[in-house]
Amino acid sequence: MESDATPLLELVGVSKSFGGVEALRDVSFTLRAGEIHGLVGENGAGKSTMMKIIAGVHTDYAGTYRIGGAEVHFRSARDALAAGIAMVHQELSIVPDLTVAENVFLGKQPTNRLGIVHWREMVRQAREQLASLGIDVDPNQRIGDLPIGLQQLIEIARVLFSGARIIILDEPTSALSPPEIERLFAVLRRLRDGGRSIVFISHFLDDVLRVSDTVTVFRNGRRVFTSPASETSKSVVIERMIGAGHEELEESYTSDFRLESRPDAPPVLETVGLSLARAYRDVSLQVHAGEVLGIYGFMGCGQVPLARTLFGKLKPDRGAVRIGGSPISLRNTSAARRAGIAFVPESRRSMLFHLEPVYKNTSISILDRISSLWLKPGRERQLAQMHVERLRIRPPRVDALLGSLSGGNQQKVALAKWLSFPPKVLILSEPTRGMDVGAKDEVARIIRNLRDEGLAVVVVSTEPETVLSLADRILIMKKGGIVREFANEVVSKDRLLEAA
Ligand SMILES: Nc1ncnc2c1ncn2[C@@H]1O[C@H](COP(=O)(O)OP(=O)(O)OP(=O)(O)O)[C@@H](O)[C@H]1O
Ligand SMILES: [Mg+2]
Repeated sequence: MESDATPLLELVGVSKSFGGVEALRDVSFTLRAGEIHGLVGENGAGKSTMMKIIAGVHTDYAGTYRIGGAEVHFRSARDALAAGIAMVHQELSIVPDLTVAENVFLGKQPTNRLGIVHWREMVRQAREQLASLGIDVDPNQRIGDLPIGLQQLIEIARVLFSGARIIILDEPTSALSPPEIERLFAVLRRLRDGGRSIVFISHFLDDVLRVSDTVTVFRNGRRVFTSPASETSKSVVIERMIGAGHEELEESYTSDFRLESRPDAPPVLETVGLSLARAYRDVSLQVHAGEVLGIYGFMGCGQVPLARTLFGKLKPDRGAVRIGGSPISLRNTSAARRAGIAFVPESRRSMLFHLEPVYKNTSISILDRISSLWLKPGRERQLAQMHVERLRIRPPRVDALLGSLSGGNQQKVALAKWLSFPPKVLILSEPTRGMDVGAKDEVARIIRNLRDEGLAVVVVSTEPETVLSLADRILIMKKGGIVREFANEVVSKDRLLEAA
């Protein structure tokens, strides 16, 4: 019998290692019925690993797992799903070639008596469920054609409306902008009030504290702290996450930021009246040597296609791009690279090779830019080792396969690529997505160093915190146009949100 005192879900003394890496050590964790449980911790702390045990993805572990007091040991994610446990993974798992509706109903399409998929019903339900998250898309559209943030929301919708009683969201908000996050939170609260239990993993500590009933901190494979969210604070949570040095990190997370323009330098990259149908229009901007320009806007405001245009991935319909004062045609990405423009996109998947070791992943850009003669044997690893230390990539082994790294650590590798051979203009889309507070701070330091060496940096993000902490000057994009500039003034998250 399930009594009130019996937690809905309980892990006792759970340990898990991958080869020599101990990802979880003797972890105990409790989830109650009808609670939102926030889970935080540095990159590689073991959050995803624990959730994958709960969701039946990792089946080989030590320790006890109980649901409603009864011991279970799932053999597959399907087993866990049958027991009412569903998970949104950190890496998208949508099927790009299927339609939106098919993705929402992946594996559980409504069928009629004869077992035939009821298409019209499926499209109708998909539309309704998506609408409650504020998503207005045609369910018949191919999902791969949609922006990544929308894909993420659709994946979330699939899990939220799957009927599961335990819902695990592993960094669901990393591609979402504030209005979408608010709608998501409203749905989470509604599900919670209806008795569902939700685990919410995120590096945005304010969000976690705001939406959760209970907060748990992981550190180094151990659960080190659990508290009602209302009885703890961000500074306590950061302290539990990283220990020494937390005061300094909190410092960089205060609410007001003073923007200071850098000493006058000529524009390195300039656009004049750049337009692309259905993406952005009439964009004129300048990026100077030695400055970080932030471009902020909500999801779908046009900043992603703009960034892709600057790297030669999309062709504008009208307008001009100038580098160092001369017009340039960015016909393709090699043309952009030859012009000294580098680009780190928001989706790490597209740029990384999961089955290759870390050191290869940090040096690919070098390999295709300059002759391999330059790379003496051993030099490649040596450079990689330097980046691994500089960015505190965990585990600190250049031979580790990229696919074995935690999500945030993979993102650091994506950035590391460009550090050994800095370009003239570095365009970063969501550069710190998925990184913990310490890593974000480290990346900020690196970006500032590159800027001080004279690089022009463009940071494009839907996260106000990211542009605020990185940029010297901020442009706001809204519905495809630049609507406002913030320079030489004090700004806050609220002011950015208001303008966007
Ligand atoms: N499939 C795997 N093979 C080998 N090692 C792994 C694998 N999955 C995770 N690890 C290791 O286990 C540890 C915990 O990783 P995990 O993905 O659980 O971290 P996390 O807390 O989710 O981090 P992040 O915030 O970066 O997502 C890390 O050291 C990671 O490299
Ligand atoms: Mg993770």
